[in-house]
Amino acid sequence: MSDKATLTIGDETWEFNVRKGTLGPDVIDIGALYKDTGRFTYDPGFTSTAPCDSKITFIDGDAGVLLYRGYPIEQLAEHGDFTETCYLLLYGELPTAKQKADFDRRVTYHTMVHEQMMRFYTGFRRDAHPMAVMVGVVGAMSAFYHDSIDISDPHQRMVASLRLLAKMPTIAAMAYKYHIGQPFVYPLNALDYASNFLRMCFAVPAEDYVVNPVLARAIDRIFILHADHEQNASTSTVRLAGSSGANPFACIAAGIACLWGPAHGGANEAALHMLAEIGTADRIPEYINRAKDKNDPFRLMGFGHRVYKNYDPRAKIMQQTTHEVLGALGINDDPLLEVAMELEKIALTDEYFIEKKLYPNIDFYSGITLKALGFPTTMFTVLFAVARTVGWIAQWKEMVEDPSQRIGRPRQLYSGATTRDYLPIDRRR
Ligand code: SDX
Repeated sequence: MSDKATLTIGDETWEFNVRKGTLGPDVIDIGALYKDTGRFTYDPGFTSTAPCDSKITFIDGDAGVLLYRGYPIEQLAEHGDFTETCYLLLYGELPTAKQKADFDRRVTYHTMVHEQMMRFYTGFRRDAHPMAVMVGVVGAMSAFYHDSIDISDPHQRMVASLRLLAKMPTIAAMAYKYHIGQPFVYPLNALDYASNFLRMCFAVPAEDYVVNPVLARAIDRIFILHADHEQNASTSTVRLAGSSGANPFACIAAGIACLWGPAHGGANEAALHMLAEIGTADRIPEYINRAKDKNDPFRLMGFGHRVYKNYDPRAKIMQQTTHEVLGALGINDDPLLEVAMELEKIALTDEYFIEKKLYPNIDFYSGITLKALGFPTTMFTVLFAVARTVGWIAQWKEMVEDPSQRIGRPRQLYSGATTRDYLPIDRRR
């Protein structure tokens, strides 16, 4: 017997079912609200709206908890690797050794891209932002892989998912190589996912490239941390695009476009620029005051979150990874890290940030780590997109396979002009 929610407007009363999940808040099923009451709900930014029933990722923002298919992010980041996390997100269970080996092999043998795709890159200016290239090239995948765009065919959905998961690192590395004017590097099947990506980004034909295992492990963990995050803006974009029946390549390209925004995945690039602009610890109070000033559009990039009103669990792991990478590279006095740690310490004791529950999010430390790994700031969100592709695919797959799925079509509160007659131009004043 489900609980009921009662809505009373004037002398009319309606009842709606309250549905319970396995974790987190209950939901009030208002699917019949408009039909029964002739009214819509109003929730800009969807702060109180659940558009779907999902089994993939759970976040408890107050407790700072993140679970992928029930497994805490801390345990997956410590004990697992990225392709194991991909299998978990896509299929719901941790793979057996045989399942993992088979999955790794299938991903590995899809890492090359159609040779003709290389021509695509030459159409961009060398100084094009790599995220602009990613949106274009990933969207163009639907022009190359016609045999996996019929989303009604489970086999084609699986092939398209594998192609996206496997080719994103290759496409991202090619965007980086094109950006810096170096030749593309083909994937090597002998390398694991993270090592292959590092080599495709940093190897040059002039010499052998030896993968640093500490750095490969760091990239692998960064991918795990960024893999999925419930119904965030880019995932909601992928779901909405997919609800029209658009092919998965086009849906993921839409997700990449949304992720690029500085309020979302673009924050890692913006956070590093902010730390560099602050420059030294003595200038931190000036920026803290600007972040608190309602008349100043400045935001403390890498701080705050729509859901986390506690420390983002990913940020803690990211901070540990930052120290590991800097240590492995012998960087003991990174001024950006010093500013970041001092900024965090000051912000976490400031009344404004405490009252508004603003904590570092995953983007606060990731930029320092990626810069130390050798990536330019323009590549930071590209790496976020590479990692998040599996989350987008898992959420898209869950939606497409949901028999109750319909095209997403929100309504509105209309506050524009009421009906009026056309006025010929010679009578307008
Ligand atoms: C990601 O959704 C996800 O899950 C995203 C993500 C994922 O994995 O997919 O986690 C990845 O996008 C992380 C967030 C990265 N963005 C940034 O670091 C940019 C800086 N942060 C802010 O822009 C902001 O915190 C947002 C966009 C993240 C959240 O915006 P909200 O939902 O509007 O924030 P809020 O409602 O919790 O804000 C409460 C108050 C507001 O002030 P009042 O209107 O109450 O007076 O805090 C203020 C905000 O103005 N505030 C900040 C702030 N973030 C919020 N003030 C100063 N600096 C900030 N960073």
